[in-house]
Amino acid sequence: MKRTVIKLGGSILVDDRLRQALLEQIVELIQAGQELVLVHGGGRQIARLLERLGIESRFHDGLRITDEATRDVVQMVLSGLVGRNLVAELEAAGVHAVSLAGGDGQSLVATRMAAADGTDLGFVGQITGTSPALIDHLLDGGFTPVVACLAIGRDDHQYYNVNGDQMAAAVAGGVRAERLILVTDVGGVLDEEKRLIETLTPTAIDRLLESGVASGGMRPKLRSCLEALALGVKEIRIVGAAEERVLGRVLSPVGESRAPGTTIVQESGLTGMFPAQEHL
Ligand SMILES: Nc1ncnc2c1ncn2[C@@H]1O[C@H](COP(=O)(O)OP(=O)(O)OP(=O)(O)O)[C@@H](O)[C@H]1O
Ligand SMILES: [Mg+2]
Repeated sequence: MKRTVIKLGGSILVDDRLRQALLEQIVELIQAGQELVLVHGGGRQIARLLERLGIESRFHDGLRITDEATRDVVQMVLSGLVGRNLVAELEAAGVHAVSLAGGDGQSLVATRMAAADGTDLGFVGQITGTSPALIDHLLDGGFTPVVACLAIGRDDHQYYNVNGDQMAAAVAGGVRAERLILVTDVGGVLDEEKRLIETLTPTAIDRLLESGVASGGMRPKLRSCLEALALGVKEIRIVGAAEERVLGRVLSPVGESRAPGTTIVQESGLTGMFPAQEHL
């Protein structure tokens, strides 16, 4: 059975209808025998609590600048609230699930990330090591792992805030998943005219990043897709949560000509990527 990592963006988890629809699909897939690992963000929920506490949110290149007070809130919201609530909903639907973060079993180890331009991002982590043992054990025991995007510091054993997509790519590589599905609040990656891009290669991703057509949270998302490709994940997709039965259509397709969202492929899969003249 193919192992799949599904990343659920924080932006969709705050929408009850979307979240319930996705969880229904996830439960159905697990009950049909699929091996799924869930990774969740929590950007919106973190922003809400920070606002209530009067702590300012600041971003750099799509990443949240995370001082110590912010990190504590990130840790509380991801592990205490978002992950636990997902587990409760899965358990209510009859799926056994366990919420964990990078510190558990040293599953995901990070070092402090340095921004390209030298900006101090605080407790923002870059994954430097993964151990699949705990997640393997959970899957073998019939439990669905629900991974918060928090890693443990390699040198200081403190928790680091990791962008959810980077976390998902690292988990997918670490647990040798064949597929990585990033579920977000847009139907896929959009070009400068807001049309859906069906297929993206690393070169095309570089262009989207350089031109600025990919902005905000889409930037770390696309970089994570490149990381996942480099880690050997075979099938990578960015899909919209709002599409009808989106996970079922991706993970157990029945006679569809085209899967939803944007597929990220290696350079050789150029077909249909660029306007015809660029192939000449
Ligand atoms: N070219 C683009 N195509 C599609 N979306 C884009 C593009 N450029 C920027 N975006 C933005 O990226 C957003 C998706 O990233 P975002 O980080 O907000 O969501 P997420 O990763 O699903 O959630 P979270 O970060 O909370 O886990 C979209 O809602 C859109 O506003
Ligand atoms: Mg994001």
